[in-house]
Amino acid sequence: MSVLVTGGLGYLGSHAATQLSEEGNDVTIVDNLSNSSIETLERLNEISKNNIKFFEADIRDTDQLKYILKQNEIKSVMHFAGLKSVRKSEIEKKEYFDVNVNGTKTLVDLMENNIEGDKYFVFSSSACVYGKPSYLPYDEDHPLAPENYYGETKLEAEKYLKKTHTKKNKWNIVILRYFNPIGAHASSKIGELPLGKPENLMPNILNATSNNKQTLEIFGSDHETKDGTAVRDFIHVTDLIEGHKDALNFMINKPKEVFDVFNLGTGYGYSVLELIKTFEKVNNKKVNFKFSKKRDGDLAIYYAESKKAKKFLNWEAKLSLSDMCKSSWEFYKNYK
Ligand code: NAD
Ligand code: UD1
Repeated sequence: MSVLVTGGLGYLGSHAATQLSEEGNDVTIVDNLSNSSIETLERLNEISKNNIKFFEADIRDTDQLKYILKQNEIKSVMHFAGLKSVRKSEIEKKEYFDVNVNGTKTLVDLMENNIEGDKYFVFSSSACVYGKPSYLPYDEDHPLAPENYYGETKLEAEKYLKKTHTKKNKWNIVILRYFNPIGAHASSKIGELPLGKPENLMPNILNATSNNKQTLEIFGSDHETKDGTAVRDFIHVTDLIEGHKDALNFMINKPKEVFDVFNLGTGYGYSVLELIKTFEKVNNKKVNFKFSKKRDGDLAIYYAESKKAKKFLNWEAKLSLSDMCKSSWEFYKNYK
């Protein structure tokens, strides 16, 4: 199968490209390198032993995108390209709307006009579309009320996809709402390697291990949780990407057009401190940390109800918190 992976040199997209290519799919990547580097492509080809096609392009560039869709006979797209910093989304609203919402619309409209017959689309959404929990675990029917602008852009893109499915022909769309992906590929050749100062938790833990001079700031010791630190549903990136492949197969095997939404999480919440303790134990490494005040907009606790994905996609997370910590460290040792 020929699959377009947008944002395919980024953290999650690179794992998708590898896992798809390893299974013999014909993978094409589009990435503008705004948060990734070209060296990742070499590593992807090394792991998959295939030649993954790469186009340095912006998803908003209609001419290039049209060419790529036609040239590679694309019918299936995993759409990872996007901007993901909650903090920056409040400051750079225009850019976030433009990439996350307009970029998605551009891609979908181009597919509509340039692909004949069935189209398959998997969208990277986020648990943050739910906002403050009315109840936990969040299921897919939980009210949608994002607490930050990043979440609003994801919700807006979801709404456009729903409209597309209702109004247009031969569209199959699965929206995946991710919880907190961490960990790295078993080869230790790819992992989370953002450009600039990382915002997410695991890259900051890695930078604060004992042979590094940095200190992890834990945002908040006074959350209403078991140990005062925030609780999240951490999920191994490999499991997360398996969920994408299952979503694609689910759509392809259905006789009727599909529109559906699934959480991808383990269903369990661990605190930031529990994650750090596990990391220290399995890697025999000390993490330097200090407590600082809560980060604006951070929720104390959330985790997924993951039964729907199990029932319809036959998917569930298999890898443990220890696996996530070990693989993150193995990757970091190799490439930092
Ligand atoms: P990432 O930043 O590592 O990867 C995104 C990739 O998209 C990067 O390689 C970047 O260069 C590329 N990109 C950005 N804007 C682009 C554009 N206009 N045109 C082409 N390429 C562009 O992020 P990630 O962690 O891999 O996340 C992938 C997707 O999943 C994003 O849409 C993100 O919002 C979503 N998501 C991520 C998380 C998470 O915790 N990592 C959680 C929920 C949802
Ligand atoms: C947030 C978004 C999520 C989004 C993701 C992508 C919300 C509710 N969630 O997840 O939808 O897809 O970002 O970037 O908006 N932490 C520290 N120190 C650090 C970094 C993080 O203590 O240096 C803490 C945070 O306060 C948080 C937890 O670790 O409690 C996880 O943080 P992070 O990895 O940034 O993800 P979320 O904020 O959960």
